[in-house]
Amino acid sequence: MTKLSVNINKVALIRNSRGGNLPDLVQVAMDCEEYGAQGITVHPRPDQRHVRYDDVPQLKAVVKTEFNVEGNPTPDFMKLVLENKPHQATLVPDAPGVLTSDQGWDTVAHASFLKEVVSALKAAGIRVSLFVDAEERWVEGAKAVGADRVEFYTGGFANDFYKKKEKSAESHHRCAILASQIGIGINAGHDLNLENLRYYKENVPGLLEVSIGHALISDSLYFGLGNTIQMYLRQLR
Ligand code: PXP
Repeated sequence: MTKLSVNINKVALIRNSRGGNLPDLVQVAMDCEEYGAQGITVHPRPDQRHVRYDDVPQLKAVVKTEFNVEGNPTPDFMKLVLENKPHQATLVPDAPGVLTSDQGWDTVAHASFLKEVVSALKAAGIRVSLFVDAEERWVEGAKAVGADRVEFYTGGFANDFYKKKEKSAESHHRCAILASQIGIGINAGHDLNLENLRYYKENVPGLLEVSIGHALISDSLYFGLGNTIQMYLRQLR
């Protein structure tokens, strides 16, 4: 079974655009779960333009499924995560002002840093996933630094899906086989949508979780949040 974790950063972006509390992020998180989401993902960025650091404890208090906090493991991020103990931390090598995450870790070059942060998080009982491009060396590197899972960056897949569909998930398929052989779990995220999600799932054996924000929140403008979550869940069945 592949879990659907809804990334609610876009909801926070709308809220922040007016300075008040509409839409109410905490209520939206609870509603996503009510509508069938199996996890809630947030990605507090250093400029806090989406989810803010002070949203995290409030969300932690209400999320009943799986709470996943993503970000670059800076000292501030590590403090936030260690204080709030989400079920999972997904570490992403984002530059501070980046529009969205667009590449994964070089898990070999950053091995000693990653080993340190992964072990600090795991010691606090937090599952750790490393955001990587689907290349065998990054998967092996993630295993070597002690990560529980990798999250495959699916932006490239999503681009290729419309141009050369039959090749688009090849590297993800290969890396998924390797991941199961060496014993590391697989998540995936970025630019997944109602058109490409089923194909991705069918081609990536052992996919444990997808986190989806931009397309899902955009679709919900047309279909409503509850219907949209059900539509995504159907793609994963
Ligand atoms: N995974 C990571 C690491 C991300 O940074 C994002 C975007 O915040 C996502 C998944 C979700 O991507 P999208 O918003 O395109 O669904």
